[in-house]
Amino acid sequence: MRFGPDILRQADLLATISEEPGRITRTFLTPQHREAGELIAGWMREAGMDAHFDALGNVVGRYAAADAAAPVLLTGSHMDSVVNAGRYDGLFGILSPIACVRDLHRRGVRLPCTLEIVAFGDEEGVRFGVSMIGSRALAGRFDHSVLDRRDAGGVTMREALHAFGGDAEAIPSLARTNIAAYVEAHIEQGPVLLNEGLPVGVVTSIAGGSRVRVRVEGLAGHAGTVPMPGRRDALAAAAEMVLAIERHCAERADTLVGTVGKLAVAGGGAINVIPGEVEFTIDLRSGDDAKRRAALAAVEAQCRAIAQRRGVTITWEPFFELAAAPCDARLQARLAASIAAHDVAPRFLPSGAGHDAMEFAAIAPIAMLFVRCGEGGISHNPKETLSAEDAEVATSVFLHFLEHFDPRSLR
Ligand code: GLV
Ligand code: MN
Ligand code: MN
Repeated sequence: MRFGPDILRQADLLATISEEPGRITRTFLTPQHREAGELIAGWMREAGMDAHFDALGNVVGRYAAADAAAPVLLTGSHMDSVVNAGRYDGLFGILSPIACVRDLHRRGVRLPCTLEIVAFGDEEGVRFGVSMIGSRALAGRFDHSVLDRRDAGGVTMREALHAFGGDAEAIPSLARTNIAAYVEAHIEQGPVLLNEGLPVGVVTSIAGGSRVRVRVEGLAGHAGTVPMPGRRDALAAAAEMVLAIERHCAERADTLVGTVGKLAVAGGGAINVIPGEVEFTIDLRSGDDAKRRAALAAVEAQCRAIAQRRGVTITWEPFFELAAAPCDARLQARLAASIAAHDVAPRFLPSGAGHDAMEFAAIAPIAMLFVRCGEGGISHNPKETLSAEDAEVATSVFLHFLEHFDPRSLR
């Protein structure tokens, strides 16, 4: 095998760079972000690229076309992780294209496009609660108000970026104008390819998402003396809201998923105090933007009704919205041709997970190649797996795609 074992070895090495001993957690603008980025930049340079950290902590590797005026084909994915992550989410889409460039460079092959591989510093949004920060900046959609957001320790993104050596003033200059396409490789993070015995697949579209922070305020009181009737328990109210959200989405499971991924009693709560304040998050996704928006309005109405009945108040704070992103039909066909050239039947499938590619949909044609993961397709979990054989096929397909990509075909 030319690529697979090296990619898995690199992923194993990156997995050792973590904020938490014994598990993988690597968030934006931390020393671990810096260390992982430097390792990746080193691999980019070894492969024959120029590489640097940009003003927002993304690592950008560049493999120039022979023609200096050639457009840029952008690829890459994220180097941050969720808390207690697996080792391939994001990283496969960085390591696989680097392996392609190493092979092209060894053979002395230049492409008709300049290829840029970006390791985005933040996609998961763990530290500051806002996702896709890196790709959003390159797509020219960076919202400067996020610089004032604080992490759990009270540090603003602006302060963290400064300490990292970044430059908030330079973020607007990261916006790209001359990209022919954005094409991302990623693990599927689901079971479709696994169940059908296929190593790779072509993404048709990426589901859109809405995220809301909900604060529930009731009345804290003594757990032993306040009678049950008339209590204004913020946690019991939040629990009812969580179940209402789950029920609403489960009844529309063909088009909608919804998750409450964070829920906390203010101050951590106490065993003998009726919870007075609770905060939780909602993440709603759908391939159909109208259905997602309708669901959001419906669950808001249900949460407000529950709050009213229980005598608590809620603050409803939407903080993130991303429309569903269709993948370009011509690029899907090109990826399918590269898959067929490897004697694999092209399988087209939608993505339920969000990806950096979505941010580019408004400024360039986008496409994604999925590679099968094992263990039932589990992801956002340390059990995430990828075989060297599948990494090999996916990288070979991606290389074939790169070598046959003609930017003029998209005009
Ligand atoms: C990213 O992993 C997401 O889909 O939340
Ligand atoms: Mn992820
Ligand atoms: Mn990812």
